[in-house]
Amino acid sequence: MNRKVRLGVIGLGPRGVYIAQLYARHPDCEIVALCDRVGPTVEQAAVALKSSANRYTDFERMIREEKPDAVLIASPPDEQVDIACYAMEQGVHVTTEVPAAYTMEQCWKLVRTVEKTGAKYQLSEQTRYWGFIDEWRRMAERGDFGQILFAEGEYFHYGEWDYYIDPQTGERFYGNALPPEGREVEATWRNKRFYNPIYYLPHTLSPLLKITGGRVTKVSCMGTRPRSYYVDNYEARDIEVALMHTSTDTVLRVAAGFTSPHGPRKETGFHWYQVKGTEQTAEWARTENDSPRLWTAADRQWREMDWSTNVRDVSDFIKASGHGSSDGWPVVNFLRAIREDKPIDMDVYKAVETAAPAILAAESSNRGGILLEVPDFRKKVPDHE
Ligand SMILES: NC(=O)c1ccc[n+]([C@@H]2O[C@H](COP(=O)([O-])OP(=O)(O)OC[C@H]3O[C@@H](n4cnc5c(N)ncnc54)[C@H](O)[C@@H]3O)[C@@H](O)[C@H]2O)c1
Repeated sequence: MNRKVRLGVIGLGPRGVYIAQLYARHPDCEIVALCDRVGPTVEQAAVALKSSANRYTDFERMIREEKPDAVLIASPPDEQVDIACYAMEQGVHVTTEVPAAYTMEQCWKLVRTVEKTGAKYQLSEQTRYWGFIDEWRRMAERGDFGQILFAEGEYFHYGEWDYYIDPQTGERFYGNALPPEGREVEATWRNKRFYNPIYYLPHTLSPLLKITGGRVTKVSCMGTRPRSYYVDNYEARDIEVALMHTSTDTVLRVAAGFTSPHGPRKETGFHWYQVKGTEQTAEWARTENDSPRLWTAADRQWREMDWSTNVRDVSDFIKASGHGSSDGWPVVNFLRAIREDKPIDMDVYKAVETAAPAILAAESSNRGGILLEVPDFRKKVPDHE
């Protein structure tokens, strides 16, 4: 393609507007349409983006009338699959926000629609592009770790995460465990889905699987009671911890929680990772004052390492993007894949390989920690048929 990618944006909450700003700044992209089901939200986004793109409250109409090359979908995550599949059926490439899906049926629908339509689908998971994750992946590829026996990670985030939206005005009411009195508001995905925080593990699984290779084959999960100890009247498990086994014979332990405060880590904030092999152990910084470390069996020494979230020698576009310079990568990768007709890095299989273990982990947690098998979405004959 010798012209700019014509992009439509669907879902103009805080995340949609932030990522749309990145696309708007990229020289290979032109935002042709903005869509949110709430009219005033579209108007506010157009002002924030200084955009004269056409404005819609109905995504089907937007796709029919604008015929964009691609859409960025940042609507609530449980609705993203239906919107994505509709767009792909119309011949439109799609990138969605995390998590890719919230049910196993949605995972299969996403995979089958990509296979049927040939459209490009990208999950915009960005922490997999942090500099130290790339370094650990190179170490794994070289065999520095030996056999990776164990890898773990966590995502503990807190700070007025839950909010309600007035569907007429788009007004948001932050920090409310219960709906504000006297207002006709709707619960958002955060109120509904953080009952099981483990749903939100793609930011942990995506980088870990990039390092280990393979996919999760079995999962079991436990959590605290489904009513927060920290936030009054909040129906959510404060912490859930999933144990997983991968096709590379690695055991993964992943923890998530969004309803109580935790000490941030250096550069990664509320994310933390460790990879333990027969030859080496790499560990991210435990505190903001700590350093990442490498332990080697050869000399039985811990060394402080200068690993960082930043990647050296990258464009100013990437350097200036959020989440430790990682938000720019999915933008650059998606536009390049469309313009040069190249494969997507974080494709539909990798996307559901981060979503399905989370969905099954939540089920396991709600059923007392039972062990569940994760289907192989790359198989030509699906397990569920
Ligand atoms: N990658 C990251 O670091 C990161 C960070 C924050 C959020 N996210 C993801 O981004 C997505 C959006 O997050 P948010 O905080 O902006 O959510 P939000 O709920 O605040 O905003 C979603 C917007 O989508 C609109 N919407 C709902 N249904 C729609 C439809 N059918 N058509 C058009 N618009 C529709 C809503 O009116 C709302 O304005 C979520 O999937 C979330 O998980 C990712």
